Amino acid sequence: MAWVTVLNPFKRLSPRRSRPFPSPFRALGWKLLGAYLLVMMSIAGLSNLLVYQFFAQNLYKNCDEGLKILADSASHSLTNILADPRQIDQPVHRPLDNDQDLDLSWQTLQQTEQSIEWFDAQGRLQGKSGADFPFYPLKPGLNIIQSPPLRMFTLPVRQKQSSALVGYVRVTELTEAEQQTLRRLQWGLFLGSLLALLLASIAGFWLTHLVLKPIKRSYFQLQQFTSDASHELRAPLTVIKTAAEVLQRDTQNEAREDQGKLRHILDSANQMKILVDDLLLLTRRDSFCQLENYILFPLDELLEDVVTWMEMIAEKKGVTLKSDLVNNLYVKGDPELLKRAFINLLDNAIKYTNPPGEIVLSLTAAPKFAQVTIQDDGIGIAPEQLPYIFDRFWQACAVRSPQQGGSGLGLSIVKSIIQTHRGQIDATSQLGKGATFKVKLPLVS
Ligand SMILES: Nc1ncnc2c1ncn2[C@@H]1O[C@H](COP(=O)(O)OP(=O)(O)O)[C@@H](O)[C@H]1O
Ligand SMILES: [Mg+2]
Repeated sequence: MAWVTVLNPFKRLSPRRSRPFPSPFRALGWKLLGAYLLVMMSIAGLSNLLVYQFFAQNLYKNCDEGLKILADSASHSLTNILADPRQIDQPVHRPLDNDQDLDLSWQTLQQTEQSIEWFDAQGRLQGKSGADFPFYPLKPGLNIIQSPPLRMFTLPVRQKQSSALVGYVRVTELTEAEQQTLRRLQWGLFLGSLLALLLASIAGFWLTHLVLKPIKRSYFQLQQFTSDASHELRAPLTVIKTAAEVLQRDTQNEAREDQGKLRHILDSANQMKILVDDLLLLTRRDSFCQLENYILFPLDELLEDVVTWMEMIAEKKGVTLKSDLVNNLYVKGDPELLKRAFINLLDNAIKYTNPPGEIVLSLTAAPKFAQVTIQDDGIGIAPEQLPYIFDRFWQACAVRSPQQGGSGLGLSIVKSIIQTHRGQIDATSQLGKGATFKVKLPLVS
Protein backbone atom coordinates (compact mmCIF):
# COMPACT_ATOMS: atom_id res chain seq x y z
CA MET A 1 0.00 0.00 0.00
CA ALA A 2 1.12 3.50 -0.77
CA TRP A 3 1.06 4.71 2.81
CA VAL A 4 3.35 2.00 4.19
CA THR A 5 6.69 3.48 5.21
CA VAL A 6 9.81 1.40 5.61
CA LEU A 7 11.68 1.53 8.92
CA ASN A 8 15.41 1.87 8.88
CA PRO A 9 16.70 -0.37 11.68
CA PHE A 10 20.28 0.74 11.08
CA LYS A 11 19.65 4.35 11.97
CA ARG A 12 22.16 5.53 14.63
CA LEU A 13 20.68 6.61 17.91
CA SER A 14 21.27 10.13 18.96
CA PRO A 15 19.76 12.44 21.57
CA ARG A 16 17.21 14.77 19.96
CA ARG A 17 18.27 18.38 20.16
CA SER A 18 15.19 20.37 19.24
CA ARG A 19 13.70 20.41 22.75
CA PRO A 20 15.27 21.82 25.97
CA PHE A 21 15.66 18.28 27.36
CA PRO A 22 15.67 15.11 25.18
CA SER A 23 12.62 12.91 25.60
CA PRO A 24 13.67 10.30 28.24
CA PHE A 25 15.05 13.12 30.39
CA ARG A 26 12.34 15.70 29.78
CA ALA A 27 10.41 14.99 32.98
CA LEU A 28 13.59 14.66 35.05
CA GLY A 29 15.03 17.87 33.56
CA TRP A 30 11.91 19.91 34.29
CA LYS A 31 11.64 18.42 37.78
CA LEU A 32 15.25 19.31 38.60
CA LEU A 33 14.81 22.82 37.22
CA GLY A 34 11.53 23.24 39.13
CA ALA A 35 13.09 22.05 42.40
CA TYR A 36 16.10 24.34 41.89
CA LEU A 37 13.90 27.37 41.18
CA LEU A 38 11.66 26.58 44.14
CA VAL A 39 14.65 26.44 46.50
CA MET A 40 16.18 29.61 45.02
CA MET A 41 12.93 31.56 45.19
CA SER A 42 12.21 30.39 48.75
CA ILE A 43 15.65 31.60 49.84
CA ALA A 44 15.22 34.90 47.95
CA GLY A 45 11.70 35.36 49.39
CA LEU A 46 12.85 34.72 52.92
CA SER A 47 15.82 37.07 52.64
CA ASN A 48 13.59 39.78 51.09
CA LEU A 49 11.20 39.42 54.00
CA LEU A 50 14.04 39.74 56.51
CA VAL A 51 15.51 42.78 54.73
CA TYR A 52 12.08 44.44 54.65
CA GLN A 53 11.39 43.73 58.32
CA PHE A 54 14.82 44.97 59.42
CA PHE A 55 14.52 48.16 57.34
CA ALA A 56 10.94 48.91 58.47
CA GLN A 57 11.81 48.29 62.10
CA ASN A 58 14.78 50.65 61.98
CA LEU A 59 12.79 53.31 60.17
CA TYR A 60 10.01 53.32 62.79
CA LYS A 61 12.48 53.03 65.66
CA ASN A 62 14.16 56.29 64.55
CA CYS A 63 10.75 57.90 64.17
CA ASP A 64 9.65 56.80 67.68
CA GLU A 65 12.89 58.02 69.24
CA GLY A 66 12.37 61.43 67.62
CA LEU A 67 8.83 61.53 69.06
CA LYS A 68 10.07 60.72 72.56
CA ILE A 69 12.74 63.41 72.45
CA LEU A 70 10.18 65.94 71.18
CA ALA A 71 7.69 64.94 73.90
CA ASP A 72 10.37 65.28 76.57
CA SER A 73 11.38 68.69 75.25
CA ALA A 74 7.73 69.82 75.10
CA SER A 75 7.08 68.57 78.66
CA HIS A 76 9.23 71.46 80.01
CA SER A 77 6.57 73.92 78.81
CA LEU A 78 3.65 72.06 80.44
CA THR A 79 3.64 73.95 83.80
CA ASN A 80 3.70 77.31 82.00
CA ILE A 81 0.91 76.31 79.60
CA LEU A 82 -1.25 74.99 82.44
CA ALA A 83 -0.79 78.31 84.21
CA ASP A 84 -1.52 80.35 81.08
CA PRO A 85 -2.29 78.65 77.75
CA ARG A 86 -1.29 81.81 75.90
CA GLN A 87 2.33 81.21 76.88
CA ILE A 88 2.51 78.30 74.48
CA ASP A 89 5.15 79.87 72.28
CA GLN A 90 7.31 81.26 75.07
CA PRO A 91 10.79 79.71 75.15
CA VAL A 92 11.43 78.00 78.46
CA HIS A 93 14.71 78.09 80.29
CA ARG A 94 15.91 74.50 80.68
CA PRO A 95 18.61 73.18 82.93
CA LEU A 96 20.89 70.46 81.43
CA ASP A 97 19.14 67.11 82.13
CA ASN A 98 21.29 64.70 80.05
CA ASP A 99 18.31 63.19 78.18
CA GLN A 100 20.01 63.14 74.70
CA ASP A 101 17.83 65.90 73.23
CA LEU A 102 20.74 68.40 73.52
CA ASP A 103 18.25 70.43 75.60
CA LEU A 104 16.87 72.06 72.48
CA SER A 105 13.48 73.69 72.75
CA TRP A 106 10.51 71.87 71.16
CA GLN A 107 10.13 74.80 68.76
CA THR A 108 13.54 73.86 67.30
CA LEU A 109 12.83 70.13 67.19
CA GLN A 110 9.29 70.13 65.83
CA GLN A 111 8.82 69.29 62.14
CA THR A 112 5.93 70.15 59.80
CA GLU A 113 4.26 66.71 59.91
CA GLN A 114 4.24 66.66 63.71
CA SER A 115 1.85 68.02 66.32
CA ILE A 116 2.24 68.59 70.05
CA GLU A 117 -0.65 68.63 72.53
CA TRP A 118 -0.51 69.52 76.22
CA PHE A 119 -3.10 68.07 78.64
CA ASP A 120 -3.76 68.64 82.30
CA ALA A 121 -3.79 65.79 84.84
CA GLN A 122 -7.48 65.12 84.04
CA GLY A 123 -6.71 64.65 80.36
CA ARG A 124 -8.21 67.95 79.18
CA LEU A 125 -6.50 69.55 76.22
CA GLN A 126 -4.80 72.82 77.25
CA GLY A 127 -2.64 73.72 74.29
CA LYS A 128 -1.74 72.56 70.81
CA SER A 129 0.96 73.27 68.23
CA GLY A 130 1.83 72.06 64.73
CA ALA A 131 -0.09 69.93 62.20
CA ASP A 132 -3.81 69.39 62.53
CA PHE A 133 -4.83 65.75 63.02
CA PRO A 134 -8.17 64.26 64.14
CA PHE A 135 -8.57 64.04 67.91
CA TYR A 136 -7.95 60.63 69.51
CA PRO A 137 -8.56 59.72 73.17
CA LEU A 138 -5.55 60.02 75.44
CA LYS A 139 -3.58 56.82 75.97
CA PRO A 140 -0.11 56.91 77.62
CA GLY A 141 2.75 55.32 75.66
CA LEU A 142 3.10 54.62 71.95
CA ASN A 143 0.00 54.35 69.77
CA ILE A 144 -0.22 53.53 66.08
CA ILE A 145 -3.12 54.61 63.88
CA GLN A 146 -3.41 52.98 60.45
CA SER A 147 -5.55 55.52 58.63
CA PRO A 148 -4.39 58.23 58.38
CA PRO A 149 -0.97 56.71 59.10
CA LEU A 150 -0.04 58.23 62.46
CA ARG A 151 2.34 57.40 65.29
CA MET A 152 1.57 59.00 68.67
CA PHE A 153 3.59 59.13 71.82
CA THR A 154 1.92 60.28 75.07
CA LEU A 155 4.22 61.18 77.95
CA PRO A 156 2.81 61.56 81.52
CA VAL A 157 4.58 64.50 83.17
CA ARG A 158 5.27 64.31 86.93
CA GLN A 159 6.65 66.70 89.49
CA LYS A 160 10.32 66.08 90.19
CA GLN A 161 10.12 66.00 94.00
CA SER A 162 6.65 64.57 94.78
CA SER A 163 6.14 62.53 91.55
CA ALA A 164 2.60 63.90 91.44
CA LEU A 165 0.99 63.84 87.94
CA VAL A 166 1.07 67.33 86.39
CA GLY A 167 -0.41 66.43 83.00
CA TYR A 168 0.40 64.83 79.65
CA VAL A 169 2.26 65.78 76.52
CA ARG A 170 1.25 64.02 73.32
CA VAL A 171 3.27 64.21 70.13
CA THR A 172 1.89 62.86 66.85
CA GLU A 173 3.64 62.31 63.53
CA LEU A 174 2.19 61.56 60.10
CA THR A 175 4.19 58.61 58.75
CA GLU A 176 3.20 59.04 55.08
CA ALA A 177 6.86 59.58 54.08
CA GLU A 178 7.99 56.40 55.88
CA GLN A 179 5.22 54.44 54.21
CA GLN A 180 6.25 55.76 50.84
CA THR A 181 9.86 54.75 51.50
CA LEU A 182 8.65 51.26 52.45
CA ARG A 183 6.49 51.03 49.33
CA ARG A 184 9.52 51.94 47.22
CA LEU A 185 11.51 49.27 49.02
CA GLN A 186 8.77 46.71 48.32
CA TRP A 187 8.86 47.54 44.62
CA GLY A 188 12.65 47.36 44.63
CA LEU A 189 12.59 43.95 46.29
CA PHE A 190 9.86 42.71 43.92
CA LEU A 191 11.75 43.83 40.82
CA GLY A 192 14.94 42.39 42.31
CA SER A 193 13.14 39.07 42.83
CA LEU A 194 11.95 39.05 39.22
CA LEU A 195 15.47 39.65 38.02
CA ALA A 196 16.73 36.95 40.38
CA LEU A 197 14.09 34.56 39.02
CA LEU A 198 15.19 35.24 35.47
CA LEU A 199 18.87 34.78 36.30
CA ALA A 200 18.10 31.69 38.42
CA SER A 201 16.14 30.19 35.49
CA ILE A 202 19.06 30.73 33.12
CA ALA A 203 21.49 29.35 35.69
CA GLY A 204 19.06 26.51 36.42
CA PHE A 205 18.91 25.49 32.75
CA TRP A 206 22.68 25.50 32.57
CA LEU A 207 23.10 23.56 35.84
CA THR A 208 20.42 21.01 34.92
CA HIS A 209 22.13 20.40 31.58
CA LEU A 210 25.44 20.04 33.40
CA VAL A 211 23.97 17.49 35.84
CA LEU A 212 22.11 15.54 33.15
CA LYS A 213 24.99 15.48 30.68
CA PRO A 214 26.88 12.46 32.09
CA ILE A 215 23.60 10.62 32.82
CA LYS A 216 22.39 11.28 29.27
CA ARG A 217 25.72 10.16 27.83
CA SER A 218 25.70 6.83 29.68
CA TYR A 219 22.01 6.32 28.87
CA PHE A 220 22.56 6.81 25.16
CA GLN A 221 25.75 4.74 25.27
CA LEU A 222 23.82 1.89 26.88
CA GLN A 223 21.03 2.30 24.37
CA GLN A 224 23.54 2.35 21.54
CA PHE A 225 25.26 -0.72 22.93
CA THR A 226 21.96 -2.66 23.20
CA SER A 227 21.06 -1.55 19.70
CA ASP A 228 24.48 -2.53 18.27
CA ALA A 229 24.58 -5.83 20.17
CA SER A 230 21.05 -6.76 19.02
CA HIS A 231 21.92 -5.83 15.49
CA GLU A 232 25.18 -7.80 15.52
CA LEU A 233 23.39 -10.83 17.00
CA ARG A 234 20.85 -10.96 14.19
CA ALA A 235 23.24 -12.27 11.50
CA PRO A 236 24.75 -15.24 13.44
CA LEU A 237 21.25 -16.10 14.71
CA THR A 238 19.90 -16.23 11.18
CA VAL A 239 22.83 -18.50 10.22
CA ILE A 240 22.09 -20.86 13.15
CA LYS A 241 18.39 -20.88 12.26
CA THR A 242 18.94 -21.54 8.58
CA ALA A 243 21.59 -24.21 9.27
CA ALA A 244 19.26 -25.95 11.75
CA GLU A 245 16.38 -25.83 9.25
CA VAL A 246 18.55 -27.26 6.45
CA LEU A 247 19.92 -29.92 8.78
CA GLN A 248 16.38 -30.82 9.88
CA ARG A 249 15.29 -31.19 6.26
CA ASP A 250 18.37 -33.21 5.27
CA THR A 251 18.13 -35.59 8.21
CA GLN A 252 14.42 -36.27 8.14
CA ASN A 253 14.99 -40.01 8.20
CA GLU A 254 17.61 -39.99 10.97
CA ALA A 255 16.98 -41.01 14.58
CA ARG A 256 14.02 -39.31 16.35
CA GLU A 257 16.38 -38.26 19.15
CA ASP A 258 18.47 -36.14 16.77
CA GLN A 259 15.33 -34.63 15.29
CA GLY A 260 14.23 -33.59 18.78
CA LYS A 261 17.58 -31.92 19.46
CA LEU A 262 17.36 -30.08 16.15
CA ARG A 263 13.85 -28.88 17.01
CA HIS A 264 15.17 -27.54 20.31
CA ILE A 265 17.92 -25.64 18.49
CA LEU A 266 15.35 -24.20 16.08
CA ASP A 267 12.92 -23.20 18.84
CA SER A 268 15.67 -21.49 20.83
CA ALA A 269 17.01 -19.74 17.75
CA ASN A 270 13.50 -18.51 16.93
CA GLN A 271 12.95 -17.23 20.45
CA MET A 272 16.30 -15.46 20.47
CA LYS A 273 15.53 -13.86 17.13
CA ILE A 274 12.24 -12.47 18.49
CA LEU A 275 14.05 -11.17 21.58
CA VAL A 276 16.79 -9.53 19.54
CA ASP A 277 14.27 -7.93 17.16
CA ASP A 278 12.22 -6.62 20.08
CA LEU A 279 15.30 -5.22 21.81
CA LEU A 280 16.34 -3.49 18.62
CA LEU A 281 12.90 -1.93 18.28
CA LEU A 282 12.81 -0.79 21.91
CA THR A 283 16.23 0.85 21.71
CA ARG A 284 14.85 2.80 18.78
CA ARG A 285 12.00 4.07 20.92
CA ASP A 286 13.29 7.63 20.67
CA SER A 287 13.27 7.55 16.92
CA PHE A 288 9.53 6.67 17.17
CA CYS A 289 9.11 10.29 18.15
CA GLN A 290 10.09 11.57 14.72
CA LEU A 291 6.71 13.08 13.98
CA GLU A 292 7.92 14.22 10.57
CA ASN A 293 7.76 10.53 9.50
CA TYR A 294 4.06 10.37 10.33
CA ILE A 295 1.41 10.23 7.64
CA LEU A 296 -2.37 10.35 7.55
CA PHE A 297 -3.89 6.93 6.80
CA PRO A 298 -7.11 4.95 7.31
CA LEU A 299 -6.81 2.87 10.47
CA ASP A 300 -9.56 0.46 9.35
CA GLU A 301 -7.51 -0.53 6.28
CA LEU A 302 -4.43 -1.15 8.39
CA LEU A 303 -6.43 -3.30 10.82
CA GLU A 304 -7.96 -5.24 7.93
CA ASP A 305 -4.45 -6.10 6.72
CA VAL A 306 -3.38 -7.13 10.21
CA VAL A 307 -6.46 -9.34 10.69
CA THR A 308 -5.98 -11.04 7.29
CA TRP A 309 -2.38 -11.77 8.22
CA MET A 310 -3.12 -13.02 11.73
CA GLU A 311 -6.17 -15.08 10.66
CA MET A 312 -3.84 -17.72 9.24
CA ILE A 313 -1.95 -18.04 12.50
CA ALA A 314 -5.18 -18.18 14.50
CA GLU A 315 -6.61 -20.80 12.18
CA LYS A 316 -3.48 -22.90 12.57
CA LYS A 317 -4.06 -22.91 16.32
CA GLY A 318 -7.77 -23.62 16.02
CA VAL A 319 -8.84 -20.21 17.30
CA THR A 320 -11.41 -18.00 15.54
CA LEU A 321 -10.45 -14.40 14.78
CA LYS A 322 -13.29 -12.01 13.96
CA SER A 323 -13.27 -8.32 13.21
CA ASP A 324 -15.81 -5.54 13.26
CA LEU A 325 -14.42 -2.33 11.76
CA VAL A 326 -15.92 1.11 11.23
CA ASN A 327 -14.77 2.52 7.86
CA ASN A 328 -12.84 5.67 7.04
CA LEU A 329 -11.24 6.42 10.39
CA TYR A 330 -8.13 8.43 9.70
CA VAL A 331 -5.27 8.69 12.19
CA LYS A 332 -1.87 10.28 11.88
CA GLY A 333 1.18 8.17 12.60
CA ASP A 334 3.67 5.62 11.46
CA PRO A 335 1.61 2.75 9.94
CA GLU A 336 4.46 0.24 10.21
CA LEU A 337 4.82 0.88 13.93
CA LEU A 338 1.07 0.74 14.55
CA LYS A 339 0.87 -2.47 12.53
CA ARG A 340 3.54 -3.90 14.77
CA ALA A 341 1.58 -2.87 17.87
CA PHE A 342 -1.68 -4.51 16.72
CA ILE A 343 0.16 -7.65 15.53
CA ASN A 344 1.72 -7.92 19.01
CA LEU A 345 -1.71 -7.61 20.66
CA LEU A 346 -3.32 -10.17 18.36
CA ASP A 347 -0.30 -12.46 18.70
CA ASN A 348 -0.78 -12.42 22.47
CA ALA A 349 -4.51 -13.00 22.16
CA ILE A 350 -3.87 -16.06 19.94
CA LYS A 351 -0.99 -17.32 22.09
CA TYR A 352 -2.92 -17.10 25.33
CA THR A 353 -6.24 -18.48 24.04
CA ASN A 354 -6.78 -22.21 23.93
CA PRO A 355 -8.76 -23.74 21.05
CA PRO A 356 -11.60 -23.43 20.28
CA GLY A 357 -11.43 -19.90 21.54
CA GLU A 358 -12.61 -16.71 19.92
CA ILE A 359 -10.89 -13.38 19.46
CA VAL A 360 -12.74 -10.24 18.37
CA LEU A 361 -11.02 -7.12 17.10
CA SER A 362 -13.32 -4.13 16.82
CA LEU A 363 -12.79 -0.55 15.72
CA THR A 364 -15.22 2.13 16.91
CA ALA A 365 -15.21 5.90 16.71
CA ALA A 366 -15.67 8.39 19.54
CA PRO A 367 -15.82 12.17 18.89
CA LYS A 368 -12.07 12.67 19.24
CA PHE A 369 -10.47 9.24 19.06
CA ALA A 370 -10.60 5.84 17.44
CA GLN A 371 -10.91 2.90 19.82
CA VAL A 372 -9.54 -0.51 18.95
CA THR A 373 -10.66 -3.33 21.25
CA ILE A 374 -9.05 -6.75 21.18
CA GLN A 375 -11.02 -9.21 23.23
CA ASP A 376 -10.22 -12.88 23.77
CA ASP A 377 -11.72 -15.64 25.88
CA GLY A 378 -8.36 -17.21 26.72
CA ILE A 379 -6.48 -17.92 29.94
CA GLY A 380 -6.63 -14.26 31.09
CA ILE A 381 -4.41 -12.42 33.53
CA ALA A 382 -4.86 -12.28 37.31
CA PRO A 383 -6.03 -8.77 38.38
CA GLU A 384 -3.02 -8.38 40.73
CA GLN A 385 -0.69 -8.99 37.77
CA LEU A 386 -2.36 -6.45 35.47
CA PRO A 387 -0.25 -3.47 36.66
CA TYR A 388 2.93 -5.24 35.52
CA ILE A 389 1.98 -6.51 32.05
CA PHE A 390 3.46 -3.48 30.27
CA ASP A 391 6.81 -3.80 32.11
CA ARG A 392 9.80 -4.96 30.11
CA PHE A 393 10.50 -8.72 30.30
CA TRP A 394 7.43 -9.34 32.42
CA GLN A 395 5.59 -12.61 31.73
CA ALA A 396 3.01 -14.38 33.86
CA CYS A 397 4.99 -17.38 35.19
CA ALA A 398 2.24 -19.93 34.69
CA VAL A 399 2.24 -19.49 30.94
CA ARG A 400 5.96 -19.03 30.41
CA SER A 401 7.27 -21.77 28.19
CA PRO A 402 9.67 -21.91 25.26
CA GLN A 403 6.81 -22.99 22.98
CA GLN A 404 5.04 -19.68 23.56
CA GLY A 405 8.13 -18.06 22.04
CA GLY A 406 7.72 -14.62 23.67
CA SER A 407 10.33 -12.31 25.08
CA GLY A 408 8.15 -10.41 27.52
CA LEU A 409 8.91 -7.23 25.56
CA GLY A 410 5.84 -7.29 23.31
CA LEU A 411 3.46 -5.24 25.45
CA SER A 412 6.11 -2.68 26.45
CA ILE A 413 6.76 -2.15 22.73
CA VAL A 414 3.00 -1.77 22.15
CA LYS A 415 2.72 0.78 24.95
CA SER A 416 5.70 2.77 23.65
CA ILE A 417 4.24 2.87 20.15
CA ILE A 418 0.77 3.88 21.32
CA GLN A 419 2.05 6.56 23.70
CA THR A 420 4.28 7.98 20.99
CA HIS A 421 1.14 8.37 18.87
CA ARG A 422 -0.45 10.31 21.77
CA GLY A 423 -2.75 7.38 22.41
CA GLN A 424 -3.66 5.31 25.42
CA ILE A 425 -3.72 1.61 26.11
CA ASP A 426 -5.26 -0.28 28.99
CA ALA A 427 -6.11 -3.83 29.79
CA THR A 428 -8.83 -5.57 31.77
CA SER A 429 -8.89 -9.25 32.48
CA GLN A 430 -9.97 -12.03 34.76
CA LEU A 431 -8.02 -15.21 35.20
CA GLY A 432 -9.57 -17.99 33.11
CA LYS A 433 -12.07 -15.66 31.44
CA GLY A 434 -9.98 -13.89 28.85
CA ALA A 435 -8.43 -10.47 28.41
CA THR A 436 -9.48 -7.20 26.74
CA PHE A 437 -7.01 -4.61 25.49
CA LYS A 438 -8.34 -1.16 24.57
CA VAL A 439 -6.28 1.20 22.44
CA LYS A 440 -7.33 4.80 21.88
CA LEU A 441 -5.74 6.86 19.11
CA PRO A 442 -6.48 10.52 18.37
CA LEU A 443 -8.61 10.92 15.24
CA VAL A 444 -7.87 13.39 12.46
CA SER A 445 -11.09 14.76 11.03
N1 LIG B 1 -4.25 -11.66 25.76
C1 LIG B 1 -3.59 -12.13 26.82
N2 LIG B 1 -4.10 -13.09 27.61
C2 LIG B 1 -3.44 -13.53 28.68
N3 LIG B 1 -2.23 -13.09 29.06
C3 LIG B 1 -1.65 -12.15 28.33
C4 LIG B 1 -2.30 -11.61 27.17
N4 LIG B 1 -1.48 -10.68 26.65
C5 LIG B 1 -0.38 -10.63 27.45
N5 LIG B 1 -0.48 -11.53 28.44
C6 LIG B 1 0.49 -11.76 29.52
O1 LIG B 1 1.37 -10.65 29.54
C7 LIG B 1 2.71 -11.09 29.38
C8 LIG B 1 3.50 -10.06 28.63
O2 LIG B 1 3.11 -10.02 27.28
P1 LIG B 1 4.18 -9.62 26.20
O3 LIG B 1 4.85 -8.39 26.68
O4 LIG B 1 3.53 -9.58 24.88
O5 LIG B 1 5.23 -10.78 26.32
P2 LIG B 1 5.25 -12.19 25.63
O6 LIG B 1 6.50 -12.13 24.84
O7 LIG B 1 5.30 -13.18 26.74
O8 LIG B 1 4.04 -12.31 24.77
C9 LIG B 1 2.59 -12.42 28.68
O9 LIG B 1 3.71 -13.24 28.96
C10 LIG B 1 1.33 -12.98 29.27
O10 LIG B 1 1.60 -13.57 30.52
MG1 LIG C 1 3.65 -10.94 23.27
